[in-house]
Amino acid sequence: MPTAAALAHIPGPPALPLLGHTLGIVRNSYALQEQAIATYGPVYKVNMLGVWRVNLCGVEALETVLLDRDGIFSSEAGWSALERIFPGGLMLQDVAEHRQNRRIMQSAFRAEAMRDYLRRMETVLADLLADWPTERAFRFYDAIKDLTLRVGCAVFMGLPPDDPLAARLNRAFIDEVRATVGLVRAPLPFTAMRRGVRGRAFLRDTFRRLIAERRAAPGEDFFSQMYVATDAEGQGWSEDEILDQFNFLMMAAHDTTATALTTMAWALGAHPEWQEALAGEAEALNRPLDEAALATMARTEQVFKEALRLVPPVPFIPRTVTRDFHWQGFDIPAGTAITLNPGTTMMSPELYPDPARFDPGRFSSSRAEDKRHRFAWTPFGGGAHKCIGMHFSTLQVKLLVACLLPRCRIELAGSPAPVWQRLPIPRPRDGLPVVLRPR
Ligand code: HEM
Repeated sequence: MPTAAALAHIPGPPALPLLGHTLGIVRNSYALQEQAIATYGPVYKVNMLGVWRVNLCGVEALETVLLDRDGIFSSEAGWSALERIFPGGLMLQDVAEHRQNRRIMQSAFRAEAMRDYLRRMETVLADLLADWPTERAFRFYDAIKDLTLRVGCAVFMGLPPDDPLAARLNRAFIDEVRATVGLVRAPLPFTAMRRGVRGRAFLRDTFRRLIAERRAAPGEDFFSQMYVATDAEGQGWSEDEILDQFNFLMMAAHDTTATALTTMAWALGAHPEWQEALAGEAEALNRPLDEAALATMARTEQVFKEALRLVPPVPFIPRTVTRDFHWQGFDIPAGTAITLNPGTTMMSPELYPDPARFDPGRFSSSRAEDKRHRFAWTPFGGGAHKCIGMHFSTLQVKLLVACLLPRCRIELAGSPAPVWQRLPIPRPRDGLPVVLRPR
């Protein structure tokens, strides 16, 4: 890892002793970043958790690093903050190892398997939504996070949606994710890392038991698919590999989708005309709600895309440079930790005029603001590590809209402009209080 002296030629905001910019990043990473770009330009450095990181901002940086044509950017080293909790996850692998494991995981997302997940997801969603309160305020974020986790448990693990185990799994995932940004990096008593390591042990034990059950009686769930999944050469995963890949996948799947749906709930509450348009679209759907039916939900897709632009669940993408690299006039030595910024890039007025405004029409074919550059819209990343669950999460979001909006109207019951905590995964600080009014 290069020293501060090796990066002395790269500008950046003044750093506090020891803490560097950590507090500023945790408190309001977007504000720090916008100010740094305005002052120093698209290449600047910050110190986060004791590590100097060079930020490379804008669409060209996203394109160069994510496509990685010269094979010099490591995702494994970039995401090393996750290493203790999510070792062996797909995103923490590079090159040949990553390619092979991605092929294996891909086979659990093939069309036939997706059809089964979708069927199962519709039943589970309808059951879970029936239990949501009406005519009284509740915290949407908490409810949707619990719901996406239960959907994940049902679809991926074959558990009943009301299985009491889901609440314990949810707690363990929360502890894992918090540990990844804990200030103390060793699992010492009373630290977030200690809770995260315990959460990981609990999840692995639970998955191991479920795998044994599925091996005895395979089903259509993701676990059963992963157990038989192989790449073209017939290579599959050992039990330990399944445990690690699955631990990462479940976290990646439910937390991100919960954030996206929370942003949508806020936007629809604040823009009733869009909410009515989506309710109308949902009511007009042909049943059963298969992929063909969901593909007709064009306006829902626009709202989903706009929600992901305004509050991307993964606003920063880290990598580590493995060979010396020259970028926009700066020498960046091998070993440097770099950060890409899809979040602030998608708030750039050159790409998206009046960027803070909720305006799903930007994604209509006549305006197509997201097509101004290949990397103008990047909530799912790009290149070799592009989100493998993009299609799955789009289907899940559309299914939820199709099940909820024809029955209820969402009304905001808290601040009309919630404050977002961006790290580790964005969520509204007040949990987004809402009231559901039956139609
Ligand atoms: C709105 C929802 C989601 C968002 C915004 C999102 C975002 C992302 C992003 C930005 C990456 C790339 C990170 C990088 O390049 O370093 C990624 C990777 C990944 N995502 Fe998602 N994700 C979402 C939903 C899901 C779902 C539903 C699943 C699984 C069913 C999933 C599984 C994964 C996996 C396994 C990877 C690693 C891929 C690889 O390294 O090859 N994600 N996601």
